[in-house]
Amino acid sequence: MTPAHRIAELCESIRRHDHLYYVEARPEISDRDYDRLLDELKKLEADHPDLVTPDSPTQRVGGAPIAGFVTVVHRVPMLSIDNTYDAAELREFDARVRKLLPGEPVRYVVEPKIDGVAMSLTYENGLLTVGATRGDGERGDDVTHNLRTIPGIPLRLHGDHPPALFEARGEVYMNRAELERTNVGRLAAGEEPYANPRNLTAGTLKLLDPRLCAERRLSFFAYGSGAIDGISPATHRELLDLLRAFGFPVNTHIVSFESIDDVVSYCTQWADERHKLPYDTDGLVIKVDDLAQREKLGVRSKSPRWVVAYKFAAEQATTRLRAIDVQVGKTGKLTPVARLDPVRLAGTTVSNASLHNAQEIKRKDIRAGDLVVVEKAGEIIPYVVRSEPDARTGAEAVFEFPKACPVCGGSVEPDEGEVFYYCTNPACPAQLKERLRYFATRNAMDIEGLGEGVVEQLVDTGLVGSIPDLFRLEVDKITDLQLKGEKATRKLGAKNAKTLIDGIRTSKDRGLTRLLTGLGIRHVGEHVADLLAQRFGSAAGLLAATAEQLAGVEGIGPQRAGAIHAFFQSDSGRALIAELESLGVKLTEDQRVVPASSGLSGKTVVVTGTLTKFSRDEAEAMVRAAGGHPAGSVSKKTDYLIAGEKAGSKLEKARSLGIPVLTEEEFEKLLGT
Ligand code: IVH
Repeated sequence: MTPAHRIAELCESIRRHDHLYYVEARPEISDRDYDRLLDELKKLEADHPDLVTPDSPTQRVGGAPIAGFVTVVHRVPMLSIDNTYDAAELREFDARVRKLLPGEPVRYVVEPKIDGVAMSLTYENGLLTVGATRGDGERGDDVTHNLRTIPGIPLRLHGDHPPALFEARGEVYMNRAELERTNVGRLAAGEEPYANPRNLTAGTLKLLDPRLCAERRLSFFAYGSGAIDGISPATHRELLDLLRAFGFPVNTHIVSFESIDDVVSYCTQWADERHKLPYDTDGLVIKVDDLAQREKLGVRSKSPRWVVAYKFAAEQATTRLRAIDVQVGKTGKLTPVARLDPVRLAGTTVSNASLHNAQEIKRKDIRAGDLVVVEKAGEIIPYVVRSEPDARTGAEAVFEFPKACPVCGGSVEPDEGEVFYYCTNPACPAQLKERLRYFATRNAMDIEGLGEGVVEQLVDTGLVGSIPDLFRLEVDKITDLQLKGEKATRKLGAKNAKTLIDGIRTSKDRGLTRLLTGLGIRHVGEHVADLLAQRFGSAAGLLAATAEQLAGVEGIGPQRAGAIHAFFQSDSGRALIAELESLGVKLTEDQRVVPASSGLSGKTVVVTGTLTKFSRDEAEAMVRAAGGHPAGSVSKKTDYLIAGEKAGSKLEKARSLGIPVLTEEEFEKLLGT
């Protein structure tokens, strides 16, 4: 077989498996076999670069960062939808529709309203050419580089005779589990967690580097169309069939009804059903099925008359707070947790809720024994909104932060701001367990088989007393380890023991970024780990770095730099690195390649004033993508100031220091766009 043939065969087969996995959720081969196919394709394409096609599965990831967003004018505007909140408003919608279609039967299609980011995907002769956000409805941002990384989005329409032009419209969204995974990393780094999957999805699509987007695992549902040329469905249900046939994921909870009574009863029933879905929905969308009827109904200002949304109300519940417990995190941080009388809330039974920190408890005056109102933030983590002081009996207890660690009895001390309290005993087993669990997570060392139960036992039996101890484990030492389940105890079988040891061994080569992420050094999460690994390249480089050099890394800042420096200069930090090295753990990281054309590589750039083409955040992201360092204030170290309208003191300072001042256009020129 010629290489061209084999490449075509591999592309076809990988596309099929992608579809089975991401769209139909019924994979036929193991992840390992899939990786083999992809590896073979990558190798062949590397040997024959002329045979790489734009719709090859290898083209999803690994593209170079873009310098900024290009505006796309939508061929057909992306309109919005009017909202309704109860049965009466739904009936008013139905009455309006029927009045404009006298005597005609009407069928409604009801779909979940996915809480994500609306997208328009343009396919020309079957090939994905542009993917753009809704923007203001008339024009949006070209985010094709990121959309290509979303596995559910076909790079080429399935089928042999694609229409000349087809625009699929739908929603990019993120499963709640993905948000939690990302937030674990952010919390570890002391960063604010994302409130909900939609915010994180929107933020992710705005990234300039598609490799970062690929790591976030976004998903897509198609539910509509924009401009079409060469095919003409008559109903919405036909369009949905077409979307499915073209290879798009279409939501499976789509139903149709001929009467508004049925629509209403379905909507009320869904208020609870929706919580069973792994992604957020904020309502249902009710659409007239017949496209000719839609034409007749037309558009009123910004929203069509043929569609309406039924929105669900935010949910709260009232319950008794029985006790306030304190949990120990991997950095020793003590977090108060509310133990509640179990209560149904937004689809699950809630018996624990976050209380954040001691100040928060004081501010909200929450006491053990109180009647409290709980709500789910972004529909995931329940938290205590407020107490009901009027319902107090006098038996409620004001919360006092414990003076000793509830797990090891070690001494407890507050941080500088007195917001958080920490257990100061480095040997605290609760901390160690948390650290090990975190070390094994997917964004860190990604160790297969190192789950909560295994960690618990490895620590309790004394087999593991530190992170390096993991690399000293052997299959026969851990086979038959007793694992305590919720109900019964079971043993770790020889096969699982081998999987774990293999997983630990494989993780040795993950590289410095993931290692730094996994070590859970205070102030070092995924993002900072990446900055450090990219700047210093190796653990040796970090051990030799001065606090000033660390503070010189854009995005780190003096306080963080001090803490990181203290870690790498401490006896325990140095010993840990030396131990990992002797165990064969990779302590270096390859440098990302920055586009050579950029005139901003290595330059410190300050952005000020009001820009017209992009926001300040976007301009800073463009600087970063071009290998430069955005900074907040002008100093002698500044290389360029980019000044928009109404630039004030920073502009004056730059002028007085003789720093080159650029307009937006000059900035773009320098970027080579
Ligand atoms: S149809 C003319 N269907 O809701 C209306 N929209 O508030 C075309 N959305 O911007 C949109 N799920 O981002 C439609 N099944 C669904 C949807 C949906 C979520 C979003 C979409 C739109 C917003 C309107």
